[in-house]
Amino acid sequence: MTGRIPRDFIDNLLAKTDIVEVINRRVPLKKQGREYAACCPFHSEKTPSFTVSPAKQFYHCFGCGAHGSAIGFLMEYDNLDFVSAIETLAADLGVDMPRESDGHNHEPRENLQPIYDLLAEAAAYYQQTLKDSPVAVEYLKQRGLSGEVARDFMLGYAPPGWDNLLTHMQGKYDRSQLAKAGMTSSNEKGRVYDKFRERIMFPIRDRRGRVIAFGGRILQQGEPKYLNSPETPVFNKSATLYGLYEATRARTRLDRLIVVEGYMDVVALAQYGVRNAVATLGTATTTDHARQLFQLVQRVVFCFDADRAGREAAWRALGNSMGALRDGKEIDFLFLPEGEDPDSFVRREGAERFNQLVDAATPLSAYFLDNLKTRHDITRMEGRTSLMLEARELLKPLHPGLLRSQIEAELERVTTIPSEKAVATPPPKRRARQGSLHVTPMRLVIAGLLQHPALAELAFRHADPMIQALPGHELLDEILQTLKDKPELTPAMLVERFRDTPQAAVVNRLASWQPPISGDEAHEDWARLMEDAFHRLLQQAREHRLEELLHREASMGEALSPQEKEELVTLLRQ
Ligand code: UTP
Ligand code: MN
Repeated sequence: MTGRIPRDFIDNLLAKTDIVEVINRRVPLKKQGREYAACCPFHSEKTPSFTVSPAKQFYHCFGCGAHGSAIGFLMEYDNLDFVSAIETLAADLGVDMPRESDGHNHEPRENLQPIYDLLAEAAAYYQQTLKDSPVAVEYLKQRGLSGEVARDFMLGYAPPGWDNLLTHMQGKYDRSQLAKAGMTSSNEKGRVYDKFRERIMFPIRDRRGRVIAFGGRILQQGEPKYLNSPETPVFNKSATLYGLYEATRARTRLDRLIVVEGYMDVVALAQYGVRNAVATLGTATTTDHARQLFQLVQRVVFCFDADRAGREAAWRALGNSMGALRDGKEIDFLFLPEGEDPDSFVRREGAERFNQLVDAATPLSAYFLDNLKTRHDITRMEGRTSLMLEARELLKPLHPGLLRSQIEAELERVTTIPSEKAVATPPPKRRARQGSLHVTPMRLVIAGLLQHPALAELAFRHADPMIQALPGHELLDEILQTLKDKPELTPAMLVERFRDTPQAAVVNRLASWQPPISGDEAHEDWARLMEDAFHRLLQQAREHRLEELLHREASMGEALSPQEKEELVTLLRQ
């Protein structure tokens, strides 16, 4: 579905979002006066020149010139397009993203609410059935789970029989809705029946806590052990992590997230107080998964079984999460002793021991090099070459930065192949440097308004209609008009309005231009600068007009009207 995102929605989103929080989750910030600072994530540096202003809702790097709103930051840092950046902010706030019809797309947006309602109802039904089913309760007890954890994870039970859910839903939802939600199956004869039967039910929830799918474990022996909902309009397996919602709701502070393999691992760890585990749904970890995790924490620990399957899964996870890794983020790998999974381990050894292993997990850089060295014989030139070739491929999606340089340096040392020939780092994006902007009075006024929209009042008072003859006044008019309608806009919202317009470049430059005055937040100084600039503008406008009138008077045949003559006299006197 395309369609423009309504302006008001973006304003609202930026009003409710705190850029400091958004950035701090990705790049830890330090308070510095009224602003926050860090080493710039967009270029290599040792002393911080990256600043975030809570007042302006803007970030700016004095070193490389990177700057923008929370939306711009997500686009650059998480490598998202505009719409995905908006979606990310919306998801963080738990709101849906509306779309305006763009006149080309006549297909109405599918209303998914009934499916969400149906799935919530199904989860409630399974929860109730669990309470009424001694075998299912006994099973969970025997696996060491308490009623409290069962409730937190909304565990349920699908009783034996072909049509329990169908019957329960009769009159509330029709069969096509049940099928669409992935809750029924049908055989060749077209007979429709409940998909989940005689299974412990694990509702899978999205970031907002809505049930979007189920996993079902068979009670005793049988195949398949786990049955999962199919992909549906509300369930995308490769973008979903089981337990993520529950982890964000846990009362403890989230500083790291542990990725495990199974539903039961997540729930058992929670039972022992380890409430920061999530599981992929029988699929490999994707870049999207990793990105979601890094939106919440700085450190992600992959926890796999020590068997061959576990090692393969770990290596795949490494490859897929490379693109989501940034300096300041950390990925570690934990391999449990042979034959254990997190569920059995925490049960036997306890949470403290488990957390110790998590603390001591192997960093990605070490795992990366160790694993390569086990598979390539570095005593031979051929082995060193093939190692470098494989490493080069794997490192491709990794952002340039300190971690990448260190890994490259180590690869160079191990293989004795110079890294610049092996791993070509993409050149950093060129940005306009600070200070090269010629600041005219018109630009100064615009910069002041972009950075301190409250100064619009002053501008309304000083903006003489005469300055409309000066170059650059269209942009000033547009900004003043916008602020007349919406005086509450923040700098970030104001600047966002010019995204993808011809003025975007100059607006961005002016929004981060630093006047040669004491503090950047010095509102009074800005007011003084702007008043000055308005006087100079008026002066310019008068000179402009004077020249025009004098020119016309001088050229034959273009007589001035009496009013114009009067105007000329006044201007000459001024
Ligand atoms: P495991 O087979 O390792 O099961 O599957 P487990 O987590 O130890 O479960 P318990 O302790 O026997 O109850 C790990 C994950 O792989 C997926 C599920 O997501 C499961 O949680 N899986 C496994 C399936 O999707 N289908 C299966 O038949 C088996
Ligand atoms: Mn298990």
